[in-house]
Amino acid sequence: MTSLRPNEPIWQQIIQTRRLEGRPIILFDTIDSTNSRALALAGKGAESGTILIAQTQSKGRGRLGRSWQSPRGTGLYFSIITRPQLPPADLSKITLAVGLALRNGVAKACGIKALLKWPNDLLFEQKKLAGILTETNIDIEGKPTVVIGIGLNVNTPATAFPAELANHATSICIAADRYFDKGVVLTVILHEIEREIERLANNEFKGILDDWRTYDATYGKWLTWITPRGKKISGISLGPDEDGLLHIRDATGASHTILSGDLKINRKQ
Ligand code: BTN
Repeated sequence: MTSLRPNEPIWQQIIQTRRLEGRPIILFDTIDSTNSRALALAGKGAESGTILIAQTQSKGRGRLGRSWQSPRGTGLYFSIITRPQLPPADLSKITLAVGLALRNGVAKACGIKALLKWPNDLLFEQKKLAGILTETNIDIEGKPTVVIGIGLNVNTPATAFPAELANHATSICIAADRYFDKGVVLTVILHEIEREIERLANNEFKGILDDWRTYDATYGKWLTWITPRGKKISGISLGPDEDGLLHIRDATGASHTILSGDLKINRKQ
């Protein structure tokens, strides 16, 4: 590592000014989960575009009821409140659009060429670098609020991951062997997210999907899908379709459409 501690002037500036290029920022030293708080604030009418950032989370949440480890000060843990002008059927596309934005943001800010695992994981050398938890609330008028929660391991040392994650998690600083200013990384990622959400609003999901497929970590690989009812189905990944749903083909040739559930990449291909 080139320096013993990360030098993060832009991150310090965001913390002190609580502003990021004019965007409303709510900063927490410690919070249970930025997503939980964002959903609560959204219910009270918080402005679209509000960003909640935490130095650490005591109950960071991941998909499928999992927890998200948030070692203090090392990673980016944030949630964005959005009120997209999209039909409810298109909301699942947001996770893919944000995944693409995250992948491109990390590549631009840090030079790390990560891959995407449907629906929401960013992988580097098969280890998890980041995850996205998108949660939706429909208000009494039927208008959706989408909270986009992102956990990205930026300056997280290997020693900060619990033993059970040691072989499954990584960080940008482990991958690049240097520290990064989290403020710079966050700024670049937010630009990319705004860009992709605008493409989505302009009916350009086809282009987003084409880009997403370029970085698909699992296309053509054998996966095991653990369905929401706990059944295991193995098949070759055919990638996401025009609605953003994943398809796999099992050994009998039958296709399965995946809306949710857990996916593991089989070790033996
Ligand atoms: C996953 O990989 O399953 C999604 C992880 C999402 C973690 C982020 S950290 C910020 C935001 N707040 C949360 O409680 N979760 C998301």
